[in-house]
Amino acid sequence: MAHPEQPRENIILVGFMGTGKSSIGKQLAGQLGFQFIDTDRLIIERTGAPIATLFAEKGEEAFRDIESGILTSIGHLNRCVISTGGGTVIREENRAALRALGFVVALTASEEVIFNRVSRNTKRPLLQTENPRETMRALLATRETYYREAAEFTLDTTTLPHAKAVAALIAKARERFSWHHQP
Ligand code: S3P
Repeated sequence: MAHPEQPRENIILVGFMGTGKSSIGKQLAGQLGFQFIDTDRLIIERTGAPIATLFAEKGEEAFRDIESGILTSIGHLNRCVISTGGGTVIREENRAALRALGFVVALTASEEVIFNRVSRNTKRPLLQTENPRETMRALLATRETYYREAAEFTLDTTTLPHAKAVAALIAKARERFSWHHQP
């Protein structure tokens, strides 16, 4: 746990579904020797319900309230890689909470690649519509500015192998936290 006045050495990954937050985040944490935290996973653990069930039974606003509560509850963390749900950045209070946690990085990918990645599973309630591609396009358009507003650095993962993404993020974190040695 960090002292309250110490800067937080966390790396927080934001970005749309399918941009690689969880898979890149896990590898990044492994290489840095940091703990990996996935806020969607914390929501499932805390509520005991899958995300699709929370959306279906309580609705999106209730899900967002739970999501904001989770961010508040992890405010003490240090030396973690934190992967967030794609809609976490919608609320201003969440963007501020993420920035207070440390180095926020937005992962992006082309619409085509995101669609190929997310259409492989049905766990994402927001895309269970008649025209998921159109829904995705609309969500991307509204959220783009939020990702950029939340993040200090943006990494495009469209054609980037995970290992290269991890190396790029470690190089950036080294600058950001002034690490002169292996963290
Ligand atoms: C959401 C993204 C999901 C999950 C929920 C809502 C969103 O997380 O939090 O289904 O609003 O974009 P991933 O980005 O990890 O898929």
